[in-house]
Amino acid sequence: MDSPGRNVFILSSGFLAVIGSCSGKKRTEEGIQVKETQPIEAIAAGNNLESYEEAYQNFSFKDVEKEFSWYETGKVNAAYEAIDRHAESERGDHIALHYSDSDREEKYTFRQMKEQSNRFGNVLRKIGVGKGDRVFIFMPRTPELYFSFLGTLKVGAIVGPLFEAFMEGAVRDRLEDSEAVALVTTPQLLSRVPVKELPALKHVILVGAEGEQEEGFYSFEKEMDQVSPELDIEWVDREDSMIIHYTSGSTGKPKGVVHVHNAMIHHYQTGRWVLDLKEDDVYWCTADPGWVTGTSYGIFAPWLNGVTNVIRGGRFSPEDWYGTLEKYGVTVWYSAPTAFRMLMGAGADIVKQFDLSKVRHMLSVGEPLNPEVIRWGMETYGKRIHDNWWMTETGGILISNYPCMKMKPGSMGRPFPGIQAAIIDDEGNELPPLRMGNLAIRTPWPSMMRKIWKNESKYKEYFRIPGWYISGDSAYMDEDGYFWFQGRIDDVINTSGERVGPFEVESKLVEHQAVAEAGVIGKPDPVRGEIIKAFIALRKGYEASDELKEEIRRFVKEGLAGHAAPREIEFKDKLPKTRSGKIMRRVLKAWELDLPTGDLSTMDD
Ligand code: WT7
Repeated sequence: MDSPGRNVFILSSGFLAVIGSCSGKKRTEEGIQVKETQPIEAIAAGNNLESYEEAYQNFSFKDVEKEFSWYETGKVNAAYEAIDRHAESERGDHIALHYSDSDREEKYTFRQMKEQSNRFGNVLRKIGVGKGDRVFIFMPRTPELYFSFLGTLKVGAIVGPLFEAFMEGAVRDRLEDSEAVALVTTPQLLSRVPVKELPALKHVILVGAEGEQEEGFYSFEKEMDQVSPELDIEWVDREDSMIIHYTSGSTGKPKGVVHVHNAMIHHYQTGRWVLDLKEDDVYWCTADPGWVTGTSYGIFAPWLNGVTNVIRGGRFSPEDWYGTLEKYGVTVWYSAPTAFRMLMGAGADIVKQFDLSKVRHMLSVGEPLNPEVIRWGMETYGKRIHDNWWMTETGGILISNYPCMKMKPGSMGRPFPGIQAAIIDDEGNELPPLRMGNLAIRTPWPSMMRKIWKNESKYKEYFRIPGWYISGDSAYMDEDGYFWFQGRIDDVINTSGERVGPFEVESKLVEHQAVAEAGVIGKPDPVRGEIIKAFIALRKGYEASDELKEEIRRFVKEGLAGHAAPREIEFKDKLPKTRSGKIMRRVLKAWELDLPTGDLSTMDD
């Protein structure tokens, strides 16, 4: 098999990115490497956004508000706008959801989605859950997940979706921090929920449970049967909280990023101009709702635009994915670089076995999208893959490539109309083109996070320079206003598009009896962008061995999550530390990549 990412190195954490073997590079005076890639022409007329320049000059998010019914009342509910508004219109019988996995195949119209989510709202009301309460959902992608998600919003509660691969430690941290009062899960996943250790958690609703339930536990199916499909929606304020997504930073436990109902304005409009969604589209976003892409663009953007949404359960395989595109006649497809690199690795022959002719528009987010992958996509699918940039904290797309715009492969594109992006230095000065610095966004915008749950100081760190949101990414802008990603400024690891905090993994590692000290870094990988590598100093009496490596890896996998487990482990007698005892990940990274270690004056001897 051809290795998908030959000559592709993406070094994060402040190192320069050197992307693509065929792209020319020139150095600016400052020494940053400017990538020169062959541009790809804009896609001819027929897109929702006809002229980027014109929209950038004239558009204001204020104009979008008028499209929603709440413009006059001021009272809003994002689930109403996503589902009920269409259910009550002539689109009521339009398919909202095509669901399938290896066992099930179902479809639901907007009207049916309205009824099912109403029912779930009534189930919550009945047990006394309402406005402002945190309701978490920990289950695989199934229709029930989506009914619960929407029903939770309809009663004004705050929804917290959790990725099904999380293990006990990760689940506990999130339910504990958010003080969730209710949880929707399955009997299989319940074993990873330490219910007795979570005093705030009063109700557990089980999807697919058999028989009678103990107090505080409910059968989803039975409860849904007993309640009405009509519901009095809880009208909330546009600034009321709607969703919590936990995400990793370089220090401490994951933080609960809170978004409000007002974010829908952003989801709707980026759905129109970036996803280019139109009435008859069949849209597929491959992300799980445990991550922000799976909610902002797996739930809100398509349904706010009244579009048919495809949800495919189960795991990735090239056959399965191409089969899904063919079966539903998917027209707009939103996925991630790791997935595209894996499809590229699977080769072009398999593509020929499927009819992908309906696919009109392709997009990618989460990590750098290599120019090589874009070129391969042009050859193989005959389509441009449109990269775009945003984060859990930003709630929606901020920088993007648009169909109507010339694309420079390797660039994330240009700011969404209504968004001002800039490169600034640590004092807040805007830097001219071709200078590398902090990627920052002028505050506010509709989908910007409104708080970090119970952590005001973490929230404030993002806004430490007045007027700006500091992303934590470094980038530069070229003379044409295109933004180019360079790396993370902190030590956060991006493995297959998932953010992993090194501290979280290190904390888990030192819980293992054999581990005295651990330092964790991201190591460049041609398919996954980065993989997690752990350097470990063992306690006295333990011998380094392959079995021990395997055991430690399993320990993290079972305690935290599969994607957080180090793929590589290296034992060391001692780890580089500062005099105050902090592990110097920068030195570990330099060792790993054979780079200069930089200033070592704070290092302990
Ligand atoms: C971090 C955010 C946004 C949904 C998925 C990720 C990296 C994101 C790109 C891109 C290069 C990217 C950044 C960012 N990232 N998009 N197009 N090119 N890097 O959300 O888990 O909050 O991660 O992902 O480093 O800060 P997230």
